[in-house]
Amino acid sequence: MTSSAPTPTTPHHGASPEGSSAGKKTLGVAAIGYAFMGKAHSNAWRNVGSFFDVPAFEQKVLVGRDPEQVARAAARYGWSESATDWRSVLERDDVHIVDICAPGWMHAEIAIAALEAGKHVLVEKPLANTLAEAEAMTDAARAARARGIQSMIGFNYRRVPALALAKELIAEGRLGTVRHVRAAYLQDWLVDPDSPMTWRLNKETAGSGALGDIASHAIDQVLFLLGDTVTEVSGRLHTFVDSRPGPDGPEQVTVDDAAWATLTLASGAVASVEVSRMATGRKNSLTMEIYGDKGSLLFDLESINELGFMDATVPVREQGFRRILVNEPDHPYMDAWWPQGHVIGWEHTFTHEIRDFLTAVATGTPPTPSFEDGLAVQQVLAAIEESADAKSAIIQVAAHRP
Ligand SMILES: NC(=O)c1ccc[n+]([C@@H]2O[C@H](COP(=O)([O-])OP(=O)(O)OC[C@H]3O[C@@H](n4cnc5c(N)ncnc54)[C@H](O)[C@@H]3O)[C@@H](O)[C@H]2O)c1
Repeated sequence: MTSSAPTPTTPHHGASPEGSSAGKKTLGVAAIGYAFMGKAHSNAWRNVGSFFDVPAFEQKVLVGRDPEQVARAAARYGWSESATDWRSVLERDDVHIVDICAPGWMHAEIAIAALEAGKHVLVEKPLANTLAEAEAMTDAARAARARGIQSMIGFNYRRVPALALAKELIAEGRLGTVRHVRAAYLQDWLVDPDSPMTWRLNKETAGSGALGDIASHAIDQVLFLLGDTVTEVSGRLHTFVDSRPGPDGPEQVTVDDAAWATLTLASGAVASVEVSRMATGRKNSLTMEIYGDKGSLLFDLESINELGFMDATVPVREQGFRRILVNEPDHPYMDAWWPQGHVIGWEHTFTHEIRDFLTAVATGTPPTPSFEDGLAVQQVLAAIEESADAKSAIIQVAAHRP
């Protein structure tokens, strides 16, 4: 996946009056949620037109619950207006895109309503909190696609240039037959047992813990990089601290702090997935190791600009991992950014995501990752939970397909 023209020549944000820009309409955007992801997405919406050649769009309205706070956030993040009722936003004719940055328990309701209202939808990961919700969302996305309405899930790590390059190298056969993958996503923000209760630690609001939150990213990377599907799963979940301080006293933690799984892929490859919010010292470490019979790749999100490549086809005395600095204009997305070696960061992945989504909407080309891709991950998450409940029994994933 590569970017298009590197230097936009016209401003895009609010570039033209509503409804006309050389015959093309300005796409009105609404974002729902303005905290962590709302801020990351807003930053991308604000900057994408400065670097990429994107269709005309306008940051119309930011939606939250508290009127004063959301108004402050809207002014700060470049939105023209704010609102507190996401349903009213779906009724507006000047809103064409809905960017859902709200927690998982709201994804299905908002996404389905938005698609039915004819809005293009970008939704944060995981697709939903349950398999049933994910299936309903995918049905809605399929029906909307038939009417020219696009949808995408925000697995932003697909837009890390080093991982997009890894996918290209694997697809070109540079690793030969991929035999196994090690995927780990480790964080440590829950190490302290007094760290307070949040919506992320409650099954009703989060669906699951580290599993849905970060294993979803790791599993999506396995599927993305290999272009493969999961056939069977064995998993284990664990909660190390099962009660945490809430506003009115201790509250029960009802999700996992860490999860482990082995995945069998249709190609015969095997992937191990290990995720934790209790890995002391690991802040936001997504590591991918891909081992084939002709070579291997290593990636660590904490060194986001680098890809390790071992080419086992060169004479053995020259073999060894080399570090590719993924900052050349030839690398995915990089021709839009700075001169070689002027590194980019985590927030750029959202800019790439918004750029690809806007382009897909304008050209009428269904973007990836689709809701079907999100559902495939959700099927694996559900199978891991089922396996964990059955003492790590092997669960067939095909059985979860609708
Ligand atoms: N892609 C990534 O790297 C990444 C990272 C973190 C979170 N996420 C995902 O992003 C989503 C949001 O997570 P977050 O970390 O931003 O959560 P957060 O708690 O920081 O923010 C949630 C936002 O949703 C808003 N909200 C809640 N109820 C609402 C309502 N009824 N109407 C309007 N707004 C409402 C809140 O006001 C808040 O602004 C989740 O699906 C999460 O899994 C993705």
